Amino acid sequence: MSPSPSAVQELFRSCFGDRADGVWLAPGRANLMGEHTDYNEGFVLPFALGQGIVAAAARRDDSSGRRLVLCSAQEPGSVAEVSLDGLSPGQVSGWAAYPAGVAWALAAAGYAVPGACVAFDSDVPAGAGLSSSAALECATALALTELAGVAVDRRELAAMTRRGENEFVGVPSGIMDQSASLLGQRGHALLLDCRSLETSQVPFDPAAAAAQLLLINTRARHELTAGQYGRRRAECEQAARLLGVPSLRYLTDVADTDRLTDPVLRRRARHVVTDDQRVLEVVGFLTRGSGSGSGDVLGEIGRLLTQAHVSLRDDFEVSWPEADVAVDAALTAGALGARMIGGGFGGSVLSLVRAEAAEPVRAAVAEAFGRRAWTAPEFLPADPSDGARRLGLQ
Ligand code: GLA
Repeated sequence: MSPSPSAVQELFRSCFGDRADGVWLAPGRANLMGEHTDYNEGFVLPFALGQGIVAAAARRDDSSGRRLVLCSAQEPGSVAEVSLDGLSPGQVSGWAAYPAGVAWALAAAGYAVPGACVAFDSDVPAGAGLSSSAALECATALALTELAGVAVDRRELAAMTRRGENEFVGVPSGIMDQSASLLGQRGHALLLDCRSLETSQVPFDPAAAAAQLLLINTRARHELTAGQYGRRRAECEQAARLLGVPSLRYLTDVADTDRLTDPVLRRRARHVVTDDQRVLEVVGFLTRGSGSGSGDVLGEIGRLLTQAHVSLRDDFEVSWPEADVAVDAALTAGALGARMIGGGFGGSVLSLVRAEAAEPVRAAVAEAFGRRAWTAPEFLPADPSDGARRLGLQ
């Protein structure tokens, strides 16, 4: 999967009438466990998807100033042009703000960013909660740094691309998505401690246990998504302040959240503390086995996935009707577990299913949506894959 390098080179040629110097791929991500924990300095366990964004790029040395010239297969007929000299937040709007934000963040970190032409193609559905924006940023970052001839550490790239998204585009997201896209490894989930920024690769290969991860794009996007995300962040920060800790990560016992008198803040904090614990439990199962003697690691992970969904739905209140219905239908049809992923209020559900249950789960979710006259869901494979990289030119 991921769009073909030859198609994006062809797009480059048709946009810019020339050959690209290289093609780079950055994947989208799904998150196995740990939602809304990254900006609370907690734990996350995402993985890179097989679906991604490819960028064909070439340096553009222009006597009239450095420019980024961008086109995309998903935005046919439009070419965006951004001047890199004097670039500052607020100057670029629409999708081009993401690559421009990367150039801005690289320059702010002291890297010499060359002018470049870049053509993008994607098979990460936009608005599906699979981090197509992080993939766009990471593909841009790899392309621009390699065109500049500088090797930048992947963690530093993750921090810079996130900074571009936060400060240039104005989206107050955490560090999870860019980290997954840049550091993912095939057959592994990425354990990231968002306080120390330490990472480790946790072997995760459901196919080896005759199971699979199934993504259900609910195709729903509800209003106020950005505002609600910011509001949740503010609630978490307020809860931490009231409890006298630098961030909710510092709470290790869920009983500590009982000291919050405000019931909403108490629920928000409870989600964060329990989801941090669930990340570590999943990692424990994946690295040490179930410990129960039954060897049913996938069953245990499935149970935790569903528990996390309930917590996101009832305590953090970021789920949406289509996700709740998809989770219920998947579980009834035999999924081991399922939960919404990403920021919430729209996007995708991740379910863990044994191979023989995959078809019944798909049919049950489609039927449940059909009964409500909702747009049919889209089913996508979610295979833990390699992170961002340069592709060979054909
Ligand atoms: C979005 C953000 C991430 C993270 C998730 C929720 O995907 O970009 O940083 O906060 O929401 O876990």
